Amino acid sequence: MAVLDIKHKTITNHQHRTRRVLPASRPRRLRATPALRAVIRETELNVRDFIYPLFVRHGEGRSEIRSMPGVYQLSVEESVRESEAAMRSGVNAVILFGIPAQKDPIGSENFADDGIVQQAIRAIKKEIPEMVVVTDVCLCEYTDHGHCGILNTGTGGSQTRPNEHLPEGYVLNDETLDVLAKVAVSHAECGADIVAPSGMMDGMVAAIRSALNENGFENTPILSYAVKYASSFYGPFREAAEGAPKFGDRKSHQMDPANVREALREAALDVDEGADMLMVKPALAYLDVIRVVKDAFPELPMAAYNVSGEYSMIKAAAQNGWIDEAKATLETLTSIKRAGADVIITYHALDAAKWLAG
Ligand code: PBG
Repeated sequence: MAVLDIKHKTITNHQHRTRRVLPASRPRRLRATPALRAVIRETELNVRDFIYPLFVRHGEGRSEIRSMPGVYQLSVEESVRESEAAMRSGVNAVILFGIPAQKDPIGSENFADDGIVQQAIRAIKKEIPEMVVVTDVCLCEYTDHGHCGILNTGTGGSQTRPNEHLPEGYVLNDETLDVLAKVAVSHAECGADIVAPSGMMDGMVAAIRSALNENGFENTPILSYAVKYASSFYGPFREAAEGAPKFGDRKSHQMDPANVREALREAALDVDEGADMLMVKPALAYLDVIRVVKDAFPELPMAAYNVSGEYSMIKAAAQNGWIDEAKATLETLTSIKRAGADVIITYHALDAAKWLAG
């Protein structure tokens, strides 16, 4: 302790030095300057980490999504423009979601040759061949009931077995696999570089792998939404993709937010079935899950989906002047990468690219 000599207004330094015990370890030594901090930084975001989601719809022009400022439903032509903008900022991967002209019980436009996503894949690959085009493979945006699969009608209908033992409205697993396989093949035929099944059906990776193989697409990789939770953070997406369920919820196939051991089981199954990459979704409320899955399967590239609700939270707070959007976004994305994600799907991709460059 320094002793202040009031009378002479000096500090008796001699006493001070001999008595004070200096900390041996000082983490602050390495934090003293920006240059030192850069040397010891463990996690560095890179524009190549990002996949940028695009919503494609029929018609002309673009329309902003109310709950996702800065995100648009795009015409095919606008999806090419947006992909070009992505490429200019260094983001070289997009993931496509389609909003069909017509919805029906099985989501027929999903595997139609002139479907909206099919058109967009062809247009983007034609104009920007080096763009990595990923496609979401699910039924919910295409079905009139808004569910991720074929529903049990209790009467037979489109399903192959009666399923009387299952509740009416239950998403039928195996009947849905047949549709998912057709969708994936249709996307691959149009030139998709990666297909990403997001429906959380059991056996979806195996079904898609074998259908791709049978059709000559043995080299098309599968990015499996292996660990996808029944999350409230998908709210804005359901407005964007017009894919909210008309009744009920997705809890019979998406995971319970309370579970993490189950995530390992889901990931292991998908790895066995031939998944080339795994995904955890959402990202921010599930950083522990990203870490656990990454540690269990370090050899596979891991993606994390920084979902619509996570985007909109930052946007809304920033618009109110409550948070610094650039800093909060880069901090969030860094935390997702630090947790173990190699690839981040984010609506902030182009902004983040700009902020990283500037
Ligand atoms: C299903 C799908 C969803 C999202 C991506 N793929 C919606 C859902 O499962 O309900 C959500 C993505 C987001 O919220 O940003 N096709």
